[in-house]
Amino acid sequence: MPSLAGQVVLITGASSGIGEATARRLARAGARLVLFARREDRLAALARSLAPAGPPLLAVTGDITVEADRRRLVDAALEKFGRIDALVNNAGYGTRGPLELVPVELLRRNFETNVFSLVALTQLVLPHLRAQRSGCIVNIGSVAGRIARPLSSVYDSTKHALEALTDGLRGELQPFGVRVTLIRPGFILTEFADTAHRASEPILENAGPYAPYLGGFRAGYQKLHRIAGVPDDIAQLVARALASDCPAPRYAAPLHAKIFLGLRWLLPARLFAWLVRLRT
Ligand SMILES: NC(=O)c1ccc[n+]([C@@H]2O[C@H](COP(=O)([O-])OP(=O)(O)OC[C@H]3O[C@@H](n4cnc5c(N)ncnc54)[C@H](OP(=O)(O)O)[C@@H]3O)[C@@H](O)[C@H]2O)c1
Repeated sequence: MPSLAGQVVLITGASSGIGEATARRLARAGARLVLFARREDRLAALARSLAPAGPPLLAVTGDITVEADRRRLVDAALEKFGRIDALVNNAGYGTRGPLELVPVELLRRNFETNVFSLVALTQLVLPHLRAQRSGCIVNIGSVAGRIARPLSSVYDSTKHALEALTDGLRGELQPFGVRVTLIRPGFILTEFADTAHRASEPILENAGPYAPYLGGFRAGYQKLHRIAGVPDDIAQLVARALASDCPAPRYAAPLHAKIFLGLRWLLPARLFAWLVRLRT
């Protein structure tokens, strides 16, 4: 069983939420971390809070959608630690709104962050993992990668794409000893909802014929707060996957995520679609 202590782990989106909690948990377990995100102040504060007691780490400020930043991240990790053992592909955000009204450019932008740039970074890391015949890719998917909801199909489709990419990659890398897993968080209290709201405000404020349904959608989100998980629920799963010789293909947390995924699997498609339809 690979020990977490000493593993060199790259975490994207480490400046808040699930990425930050993952950094804290892995640092406590002795992993050597390379933290990546755009907000320099947040990364620096996290690095300061981990550094004095913990193993050595590196914070790299950058935008995952920028090729030069991705290269700089991988080069900096190799220069500092001489190797990479794992990549946690966590950076992401959501765009909301009725598909009819979402400018295709915003759809493209969401895919650029959540899918294309994630793949491009993975492609930079993989030659090193393959050469050492070990390592792990952990993709942070979502329950939304299995269950697409009205007014959320843009974000949900990025996570559906990630499911397929992860499954394909897992088989491709198996002969090289590189493990690949997907984690499906349910609703977790982070900055995600606020960021999604900001990214989607212009669409939601001009929702036209869909406007009467927004209240029901928002109320649904409010209800989710009562069963929400915390970022460390997901960090625990990342740690478990990285410490396993043979991680599960998929993990889910917290409990409501497992229940929703179970219902999606169990219920006839029409009944499930009725459950997740728009309501006023
Ligand atoms: N919270 C949930 O309910 C939930 C549920 C299912 C899945 N997820 C997934 O979990 C992951 C983490 O989200 P979270 O909930 O922890 O939200 P969050 O607190 O908003 O964190 C998102 C992270 O991604 C980073 N990021 C976004 N765009 C980036 C870019 N272009 N370049 C570099 N970093 C970027 C952000 O950092 P900067 O802004 O500093 O760049 C931030 O650190 C996402 O993939 C999300 O889809 C979340």
